[in-house]
Amino acid sequence: MRMFKEQGVSLALCLRATPFCPRRHLQHRQSLLIYTCDCQQGESMSDSDDDVPQLSAATLAALQEFYDEQKMGQEQANDIYSVGAVEEDWGMSQFWYNEETATRLAEEAIQQAGKGGRIACLSCPSVYQRLRKGDLEGVSDVTAVVLEYDRRFSVYGDEFVFYDYNNPLALPENICPPQSFNIVIADPPYLSEECLSKVAVTVNFLSKGKTLLCTGAIMEEHANKLMDLKMCSFLPKHSHNLANEFRCYTNYKSQLLS
Ligand SMILES: C[S@@+](CC[C@H](N)C(=O)[O-])C[C@H]1O[C@@H](n2cnc3c(N)ncnc32)[C@H](O)[C@@H]1O
Repeated sequence: MRMFKEQGVSLALCLRATPFCPRRHLQHRQSLLIYTCDCQQGESMSDSDDDVPQLSAATLAALQEFYDEQKMGQEQANDIYSVGAVEEDWGMSQFWYNEETATRLAEEAIQQAGKGGRIACLSCPSVYQRLRKGDLEGVSDVTAVVLEYDRRFSVYGDEFVFYDYNNPLALPENICPPQSFNIVIADPPYLSEECLSKVAVTVNFLSKGKTLLCTGAIMEEHANKLMDLKMCSFLPKHSHNLANEFRCYTNYKSQLLS
């Protein structure tokens, strides 16, 4: 890398690039001008290679920061499994968990599914994303699918299943045969008995037995009546604070959520 300062403007040249190279790329960042080029070694250059000027420590630091930000932005753009990778659409009643809650629920799912277990994330894509990030203990022993109404989640390929609670049993037979999931985690879009009773039809169809429901505290009675679920002490939290108190409910004893 060759660098020099010219008329108070910092120039950084990568490889054999010069500001005069016809194949240069120019980027502006505050007072920093950055030239790079894709010249190959050996290509003719219009200035001498001998003048090896210096950049100040501050300019070098700014340049480093610029490259770090570029790298981070690229990594984030690639990370389709980060919680919140898909922006919330409140029109679809989308309120994502914060990282801590998504992690706790994903860990619970892994623990309850057991080795070789299948996990269904029903209208709770953050749990699916947290699982697929792949860094939680035991995650390689389980498989997961996300059943969602929002087709933006179809980026997850075969692990995405379109789901509308209004048609609770309209599910693909190959991915969702009856009683084929060791645990079903559900977070229905609406706090109503009508919505929960339809979601319950799907949950009862898919689950081998274990159910974890996240919904409003006001749904406790319906959750108990429809699916025999009991409230846990763990308080799920969202990335944006919600006015409604949310709770988790299970039909089994949970250590992580009590
Ligand atoms: C309250 S949010 C739960 C999201 C969860 N907190 C998370 O972070 O993953 C409700 C979810 O239901 C989905 N949804 C909206 N309309 C739906 C429908 N008609 N049928 C099934 N799911 C629906 C939304 O896309 C959203 O993911």
